[in-house]
Order: sequence, then structure tokens, then C-alpha cells
Amino acid sequence: MIIAIDGPAAAGKGTLARRLAAELGFAYLDTGLLYRAVGIGLKRAGGEPDNKEDATMAAQRVTPACLQDPALRSDEAGQLASKAAIVPGVRAALLEFQRDFARTPPGGAKGAVLDGRDIGTVVCPNAACKIFVTGSLEVRAARRAKELRERGEAVIDERVLQEMRERDERDTRRSSAPLVPARDAFVLDTSDMNAEEAFQAALAHVRSRMG
Ligand code: DC
Repeated sequence: MIIAIDGPAAAGKGTLARRLAAELGFAYLDTGLLYRAVGIGLKRAGGEPDNKEDATMAAQRVTPACLQDPALRSDEAGQLASKAAIVPGVRAALLEFQRDFARTPPGGAKGAVLDGRDIGTVVCPNAACKIFVTGSLEVRAARRAKELRERGEAVIDERVLQEMRERDERDTRRSSAPLVPARDAFVLDTSDMNAEEAFQAALAHVRSRMG
């Protein structure tokens, strides 16, 4: 069974996907890490994320080991990832890895949870269960600012909001696999929910789909 979780940055999809996977004994893949690895790989190689050839080459060099790099967690990595993710060659290079993971989850797990932007629409359009996790821009930016402060980073709220707005626009407006809810996705707006409430609502939906 495949569970596809999509949505914009800081909507809470990572926490939700991880908890669902743990609850069901499924394997979990954070597909954003793949794009982040492309962004960071590009930067280290001195390439430009807007340059299609540089970006595609960086995507072809991504291996599972790259996903362990702590540098992928930074906000800069998220921005670079979002820029590189526009390039169709990047998306094509990462597609098979994601589909293989979904088809044959590691560790012999009975299912897989994948989170990202295009899992329910492009990577796994036949997923048994699709959840689109969203939230208002203001709430998501406030969550991200809190998270960064807790990590000890200096934060300017207005800047976090502006960067999130830019990332939303880039992810939503790109022509290749844009961020959009699948037609058969359950839309979960977490603006007024805490993590526990979001988890319970998602789990109830998953159980209804499992029969
Ligand atoms: O989920 P995240 O913040 O780690 O993702 C970083 C960027 O990667 C995101 O802004 C767009 C891109 N991405 C994508 O295009 N498709 C995915 N399935 C996952 C991430």
C-alpha cells in the first residue's frame, strides 16, 4: 500500500508522514531531501540552480548516502531545492528512485509513505491513499520561524514569510509537476490544528481507505 502526502513547505507533512509510517509499520521517504541534495550538490560543485545542465547533472549524482547530510536541513537548501526542482531533467532523474522505493519498500515493509509535492499526481498516481496537507501562509511561516529559532538561528519573521511566499509561488507555478492537490486527495488544512489533531485526522482517513 502506498500513502502519498503532498503539500507546501511547513504545512506539517513531514511530521505527519513519519508518524503514519511508524504507526503502520511502513517505510518512509522524504522526497524533499532528494531535491535538497541536488541543491546542495550544485552549490558545492559551483553550479547554478537555474542552469538546466548543471542541475540535471547534480540530480544524476544523488545517491541514498547523500540524504544523510545534515546540510540538507537548512533553509538555504530548501530554496536551492525549489529552484532546481523546476528543471524537468532533475525531476526525471529522481523519478525512478522514488518509484522503486514505493514499489519495493526497504526492510520488507508492507507499504510506503512518501511525502513531497507531486507524489499523488506524478510519482505514485495510483497510490491507495492521498493526503494534501496545507495551511495558511502566515501560520506556516510562523511555524518555520519558531523551528529556526529553536535551532538557535537568528530569524527575521518578515523574511521567513517572504521566502515562503516565493517558494510557494515557484513550486505552484512551475510547468513540470507543479504543487497541486491530486483530484482524489483528502485535503487536510492544519492552520488551526496541532500536530496531534492533524495526525488523528490523517490516520482516520488512511484507515477508511485501508478498509
Ligand atoms: O519538502 P521540502 O521543503 O524538503 O522540499 C524542498 C523543495 O524541493 C520544494 O520547495 C520543492 C522541491 N520538491 C519537489 O519539487 N517535489 C517533491 N516531491 C519534493 C520537493
